[in-house]
Amino acid sequence: MNIKDLFIRVKYFPSGLINLFTFKIKHIDIGCNFISFGTIFVRGKGKIEIGNKVIITSCRETNPIGGDTKTILYANGGTIKIGNNVGISNSAIISTISIIIEDNVLIGGNCKIYDNDFHSTDFNERMKSVNGGVKSLPIIIKEGAFIGGHSIILKGVVIGNRSIIAAGSVVTKSVPAGEIWGGNPAKFLKKISQDS
Ligand SMILES: CC(C)(COP(=O)(O)OP(=O)(O)OC[C@H]1O[C@@H](n2cnc3c(N)ncnc32)[C@H](O)[C@@H]1OP(=O)(O)O)[C@@H](O)C(=O)NCCC(=O)NCCS
Repeated sequence: MNIKDLFIRVKYFPSGLINLFTFKIKHIDIGCNFISFGTIFVRGKGKIEIGNKVIITSCRETNPIGGDTKTILYANGGTIKIGNNVGISNSAIISTISIIIEDNVLIGGNCKIYDNDFHSTDFNERMKSVNGGVKSLPIIIKEGAFIGGHSIILKGVVIGNRSIIAAGSVVTKSVPAGEIWGGNPAKFLKKISQDS
């Protein structure tokens, strides 16, 4: 570790302690070797599980790519399950049903992962209750996937093993394993080469 890395680790040690304290009081299961930079905003009464060797950035300094965003884990009645060896940068993960992020996944700066629409598409439902009649479907980001910065993953999407979502994509449909998808709405761009 060089001097700069050491300085960063020392600087963000207090926020790391705050995160661990927050996880403790919110009964969040967390594995070993957790590293965080900046305070993570944790909300909701649902269940959150975090595996081993997870790195979460929630500040500008250690990953400026996401801009001024923070990491938010909001289990709004749903479950958020983060596997082993996962990296998440300055992203919002909001679950009213289930969001599973499997092992070895990378989530780039300023991504949004929402397993629900927050408001109904039906005008009358919206007028009755701001959160009434909302559609929710589980999301799974499978082993080894890489989500490019500023992407939005919407309800019901499964991202296949080792697939890549191009920067700034809005993903509305499931992505098979081993493919690169991008754009809004995200479409197939190319297969990942076998030797990569
Ligand atoms: C998806 C990505 C990995 C593809 O890189 P690549 O393998 O070098 O592919 P190319 O640049 O040759 O692009 C292949 C095709 O995808 C298209 N494409 C690339 N990125 C795209 C994007 N973000 N949105 C839409 N289409 C995209 C290209 O235009 C090209 O289309 P074409 O075949 O019609 O010409 C790269 O563009 C990308 O988005 N990287 C993510 C960067 C990032 O966010 N990092 C994390 C930051 S924290």
